[in-house]
Amino acid sequence: MVLEIHNINNRGNSSLLDTYTHSAARAHSSWSNAVVYQVYPWTFAEDSDRQPQLGHGSIRGIEERLPYLEALGVNAVWLSPFYPSPMVDGGYDVADFKNIHPDLGTLEDFDSLVRAARRRHIRLMVDFIPNHSSNAHEWFQKSRRREGEYDDWYIWHPGIEGENGERQPPNNWASVFSMPQRQARARGEMEWLRDDEWTPPLPAWEWDEVRNEFYLHSFAVEQPDLNWSNPYVREAMKDVMRFWLDRGVDGFRIDAVNHIGKNMKFPDEEINTAYNEEWSDNPYDQIIRHHSCNYPRTLHEYIWEMTQVLKDETYEHRDLRIILEAYMGESDLRDIDAIAPEVASTFNFGSLMASWDANNRKIQMDYYHERLLREAVPNQVNGNHDKSRLVSRLGDESARAAAVVSLFLPGMRFIYNGEELGLADAEIPEDRRMDPNGLRDPERTPIPWDDSLPNNGFSNAQPEDLWLPVNHADSHKAVTRQEGDNKSSLALYRAALRLCHDLPAARTGKYCSLQTDNDQVLAYGREDEGTGAQLIVLTNFNHEHAIKACVPESSFVIGEVVLSSLEVEQKNQRVDVRVGVTLAPNESLVIVRA
Ligand code: NOJ
Repeated sequence: MVLEIHNINNRGNSSLLDTYTHSAARAHSSWSNAVVYQVYPWTFAEDSDRQPQLGHGSIRGIEERLPYLEALGVNAVWLSPFYPSPMVDGGYDVADFKNIHPDLGTLEDFDSLVRAARRRHIRLMVDFIPNHSSNAHEWFQKSRRREGEYDDWYIWHPGIEGENGERQPPNNWASVFSMPQRQARARGEMEWLRDDEWTPPLPAWEWDEVRNEFYLHSFAVEQPDLNWSNPYVREAMKDVMRFWLDRGVDGFRIDAVNHIGKNMKFPDEEINTAYNEEWSDNPYDQIIRHHSCNYPRTLHEYIWEMTQVLKDETYEHRDLRIILEAYMGESDLRDIDAIAPEVASTFNFGSLMASWDANNRKIQMDYYHERLLREAVPNQVNGNHDKSRLVSRLGDESARAAAVVSLFLPGMRFIYNGEELGLADAEIPEDRRMDPNGLRDPERTPIPWDDSLPNNGFSNAQPEDLWLPVNHADSHKAVTRQEGDNKSSLALYRAALRLCHDLPAARTGKYCSLQTDNDQVLAYGREDEGTGAQLIVLTNFNHEHAIKACVPESSFVIGEVVLSSLEVEQKNQRVDVRVGVTLAPNESLVIVRA
């Protein structure tokens, strides 16, 4: 997972009017200013009508909580997988792409959710997983038995003969889920250590006794890769997209998309000799990925095909959108963003990956907004179900500051469920772990709705029956507690999103790179050319000291502070941005032209 940040000119000129700018988004797309809330269905909410309660979320539970999302200021929801699945990988191992997991509800429940969301002007995006299915999917079952047209729907190989005549995988391609290899090595369970520096990643090939061939799995063994070089597979997957569009969804978050582009000649990957465990603890990163995924020739073509589904005349009147998950270098992301910028863009994971440091964040923000094409819709991300929670990465106050930085940036702003409550990662006892990669359960625990109810109001089931346990350390962050507390994280998110909605500069302003006189204080601006409305966000990255900083070349002098990340209560304080604004430790301020 390499983040390539190219050299960026640190331009001295920082006036709001004449710094370089990026068009906030296409005027005609409602996505250009959308707040997208990611729901992890298994732990979001169980509906109150279900008897008996099962201990995990439900589609109806999500519908019940729409008023909460509306009050927060959300205008789109991304639903993580809810499909039938053996649940080896949190539902990313799909056994039927066109149905609902029976434990979560039915297609009728889903239709009802779509209607209810639409009534509240909340759009729905669903997770679409093109690279693999579950090995329980009937396509795989047919393919391993070589049934008719399914013969090469997955990536099969007879293997090669090893030195001692044994059958070996055809190449050194590795599984992303290689973390357990490290633990196995630490337990001394690995017989095939090459030397001290090398923990073999999990091979991406698994022998199948039924077919007597290896199949490729870029993730878990139970997630065989679909063969995108087969046009029938591509048609079947595009048909899945149409199935959900016809049910009323407004777009897709496309999972691990860089994995569908592979070199089907299967050459070995190069070994990353620069790898060290401090940089990444996943043995998968010992392999440089040019062939097993990220293979541009086919990747670009397949992504283009998916975007064309949304552009079909059947859907002409709809405002549809794709957001692509791809952990790749910035220059590769830029190429993908150029495929169909009017409907699709890659996730901007830069801020998620970069350390919380004023200079890093500035380089990342400037580079990202500069590299986007004019018609692209930017996006901002502070967390998701694969990453340690924002508060656990940055601490409470810095997490609030980071939220303000992201929410006032242009484009689609993603909020991972519970982020608005300031939830932290949970300790998960070993016998309750669900994630095969062993790491991601802590950020997936149930949302605490009301700490006066069993399991914090998430479900009435017995605690041992919950899909993942409640994080009791965060009970005091329950929604009911935060709702009446204007110092709470929820109050901050609500206030920020209200301002994002009300302030013209936050709605349509271009991103403007700004320079402050202090290297621990970050600044950026937004400016709406039509109305001349402007805002500036200033952030103090120092954890201990207040700092007085100025934006020397700001085109506005007197501003009004409309939001502090530390104190939601507005003081309507007037500041002179060119002379200096005092920021408390870990504070972000939003200032508009007075
Ligand atoms: C990315 C998803 O976000 C992650 O949760 C999943 O394990 C992999 N893709 C495989 O689908």
